[in-house]
Amino acid sequence: MVAKDGSLVHGGPVADLSAAAARAEWTALAAAVARANRAYHTEDAPEISDADYDALKRRLARIEARFPELAAEGSPTAEVGAAPSETFAKVRHAVRMLSLENAFETDEIRDFDDRIRKYLNLGPDAPLAYTAEPKIDGLSLSLRYEGGRLVQAATRGDGETGENVTANARTIADIPQTIAGAPQVLEVRGEVYMSHDDFARLNERQETAGDKTFANPRNAAAGSLRQLDAAITAARPLRFFAYAWGELSAPLAETQMGAVERLSALGFQTNPATRICDGPAALVAAYREIEDGRALLGYDIDGVVYKVNDLALQARLGFRSTTPRWAIAHKFPAELAWTRLEAIDIQVGRTGALSPVARLLPVTVGGVVVSNATLHNEDYIAGRDARGNPIRDGKDIRPGDWVQVYRAGDVIPKVADVDLARRPADAVPYVFPTVCPECGSDAVREEGDSVRRCTGGLICPAQAVEKLKHFVSRGAFDIEGLGAKQIEMFFADAALPIREPADIFTLRTRDEAGLTRLKNREGFGEKSAANLFAAIEDRRSIPLARLIFALGIRHVGEVAARDLARHYAGWDALVASVDLARPAALAHRAADAAEARERRAAADEGRRARIGEARAAAIAAAAVPPASMAAWADLVETDGIGPVLALSLSDALANPQERSGIDRLTAHLTVLPPEAQVAQSPVAGKTVVFTGTLEKMTRAEAKARAEALGAKVAGSVSARTDLVVAGPGAGSKAKDAERLGVEIIDEDAWLRLIGG
Ligand code: IVH
Repeated sequence: MVAKDGSLVHGGPVADLSAAAARAEWTALAAAVARANRAYHTEDAPEISDADYDALKRRLARIEARFPELAAEGSPTAEVGAAPSETFAKVRHAVRMLSLENAFETDEIRDFDDRIRKYLNLGPDAPLAYTAEPKIDGLSLSLRYEGGRLVQAATRGDGETGENVTANARTIADIPQTIAGAPQVLEVRGEVYMSHDDFARLNERQETAGDKTFANPRNAAAGSLRQLDAAITAARPLRFFAYAWGELSAPLAETQMGAVERLSALGFQTNPATRICDGPAALVAAYREIEDGRALLGYDIDGVVYKVNDLALQARLGFRSTTPRWAIAHKFPAELAWTRLEAIDIQVGRTGALSPVARLLPVTVGGVVVSNATLHNEDYIAGRDARGNPIRDGKDIRPGDWVQVYRAGDVIPKVADVDLARRPADAVPYVFPTVCPECGSDAVREEGDSVRRCTGGLICPAQAVEKLKHFVSRGAFDIEGLGAKQIEMFFADAALPIREPADIFTLRTRDEAGLTRLKNREGFGEKSAANLFAAIEDRRSIPLARLIFALGIRHVGEVAARDLARHYAGWDALVASVDLARPAALAHRAADAAEARERRAAADEGRRARIGEARAAAIAAAAVPPASMAAWADLVETDGIGPVLALSLSDALANPQERSGIDRLTAHLTVLPPEAQVAQSPVAGKTVVFTGTLEKMTRAEAKARAEALGAKVAGSVSARTDLVVAGPGAGSKAKDAERLGVEIIDEDAWLRLIGG
């Protein structure tokens, strides 16, 4: 319950509330949330903490879950981004809202100045001043004041007609409702945006409430402004910078800078970084300065806008169809940004690899806030490549440095460059750890490997937890209700731990024997606990390929796992064969080392290496039994499996700790062989071409079924084609088949062939 003074008093369990009590509590809670919203956003004077605010909202949501009729009355928990039930009213702009011409290169800024001089018939030396100001990455809004009162707010829309968002705009603290000393009609234009801090807090709140989060502050600002329910906009921390105007009953000033100052005097926020420049060189200098300070602003900008300062000249220059001649946006390169490297952290992966991660002062790169980026490996940080050649001119990267972050599409952001001119005097070179930061085991780097690895194996908690996450992942055991988050939770759980895959399959019996049952835990209920146990039960039978992939053995991906499964057809056969091949695998490794030694010696002595002999001698010295040699050959010659993968698999199964964990796991499982029908299917290994119209199934379905039966489906007919399935309307492909003597059958015959 909420007490009269607004403090939060916990009510009893929602399950015990009567309908009347629920309504009373709901009303009080909804009012408290609305009041908190007003205090926070409109009055800029928060009255309760974020945690209390979240608690209020959570309790509201719980009550609404039990009494949905209450939510229908316009609750502050109303879903975020819910599909609008109606649209905003349209508003025709009295003066069109324009966009800006873009420039990326310095040359284009000189051209911009040249063009303006030409248009105005000004000589190259005639004075011509510009303003330079940050280009805010938000969405533009036009505010109409009549007699000093805000009467309408509209989005840009297509420039001619926008959407009426007046009620929403009124909830934004930076937008005054009334202004004194303004012209009778004043349209103020500017950008609605969200600061980085507010964005992070909003996303946290959204996540806690189970609502969708936003990709970047711009999306969050746009989504928040365009809410049909102004109460939702009010709960979102939006801000506004004024930088332009539309209809005016009297001019604001004679210059751009003067007009912005006037807007500031009227009570609007204007950008303090706005300055006057006397020509293209000064504009570009301003651009560099603003770009350098970008990460410290606390909100997103995507370039610098230059405008002719003299408003009489602006009027002469006028507009093209959608952009003014007197302004240009000098954009930052889309995928690059400079920011400060706060720290270098080391993450330990599933296979023990130590990966350096850059912790950055958050910066937006290509529309996404980036606060972490990869630094690849220790050589990369030191400024050299795997062969020891300098990269970035040999510049190393140190905590405290200003670094360039690069991001392309969905790729993990990387640190691309470092600015030595901005290096703090006390920055010290980064020393890459030689012990695992998670378990203290030695971290070693094998010859020819660019990666340093923890040697702790499963005693390393980081490796163990990453291996478990991999074990339950999509292509592996894929257990519903047991994702990365739950794995972290169970891994750390003292009462009901999951420390290795086998523990998953004893979870239920351990739970039943325990005192505090899973169904009573945070995040679980009777139903979700039962669902989890059922999902685990379901996976006691597992296809061989999934099991192999799930073990998370280095180099053994999904495709290799399928290849191995197909080749060995059973878990016991696979293990027996790999065990048998162990002596040969070790001999192979010794031969690799002998080969490397021979190569080095030959280079030193200036002769040709005798690789084959070195290998043969090493293998002979190992005296491997022929059966082991045969098993090894069988393994490495399996389609898709080479010596690197084979060695890694052999190492994993020969490691006593790892092996006993695997044995404990498989004791709980029924391993299903790869689909037996594939080998027996009459089309296994055949190349099939479909042509013409298929009447009983789609082309995609036909292809999938053929592939499931072991056939290869090709798009065109060649001498290698075994079978053409031709439906009505088959054209040149059927002719090709005839010419090449390839068998042609119709769809019904195909279905009979594959058993319907
Ligand atoms: S001036 C007639 N100044 O950028 C020119 N626009 O890409 C009016 N923008 O639609 C725009 N910061 O939404 C101007 N300091 C700034 C700006 C700015 C952001 C936005 C504005 C405009 C878009 C064009």
